[in-house]
Amino acid sequence: MKIIHISDIHLTVPGEEMGGLDPHVRFARALAHAAENHADAARVIITGDLAHWGERTAYEALRKALADLPIPVRLLIGNHDDRSCFLSVFPDHPVDANGFVNHAETIGKARFIYLDSVGERTHAGHFCAARRAWLATELAACDRARIFLHHNPMPVGLPAEDRIALVAKDRGPFRDLITEHAARIDYIHFGHVHAPIHGRLAGVPFASVPSTGNQSIPDLNEPDLLKGAPMDPAYAVVLIDGRDTTIHQIPFAWDGPVLTAGTGWEDWAKPVEAAE
Ligand SMILES: [Fe+2]
Repeated sequence: MKIIHISDIHLTVPGEEMGGLDPHVRFARALAHAAENHADAARVIITGDLAHWGERTAYEALRKALADLPIPVRLLIGNHDDRSCFLSVFPDHPVDANGFVNHAETIGKARFIYLDSVGERTHAGHFCAARRAWLATELAACDRARIFLHHNPMPVGLPAEDRIALVAKDRGPFRDLITEHAARIDYIHFGHVHAPIHGRLAGVPFASVPSTGNQSIPDLNEPDLLKGAPMDPAYAVVLIDGRDTTIHQIPFAWDGPVLTAGTGWEDWAKPVEAAE
């Protein structure tokens, strides 16, 4: 099974830039690249920061951009999103009994769990008692799970970034739940950090993806300021085979030269012209 993981598209009011680039153009390129190269994907999953400042016209542009995509899409919200505005533009989008944008589905033999980690008017993530109960119920009811959310649910060694990870008081309960169900959770996927970060939490592997807009530059010493740059964007292709996972980072906007090389036995030789 193939999954496309896109994150932090930060769509603006059309015409407004975000960090010196047009996020609509970037997102359109990502979708076109995915449609051309990965039409066999089971899902495109976008893990939040759909809009840059939660504006209605940004969500309307998102709905329009997704209209003709030949791959089913699943949406999560992030700290730059406005839950009520998002739901007003996507009125049929599933929510849980408490109104959070929590939803889940079974694909193949795994439960895909899409967790809403947004707090009102804060960049930090939240995982309140109601959401804990929802996730606990989902995990207890399945044999295998794959969790998607916007925020990194743990500190990642970046002091400034960690200030807006899942808030400290909610990290323990999240970790406890992961620990309890670790044997059935195949992977945790998130966005928010605008960079590829990989590791394990309570024994469960996790991965984030770059943004389709600007990227963050990891600074393991800077205490307050997030650092970013207009480095190449990417999305991830996640290949799932049973409980095995392989993740490729796709630089969909690369316009530079592409070099090719053979892989046959006869190709193992320094080219004659290079040797001269
Ligand atoms: Fe973001």
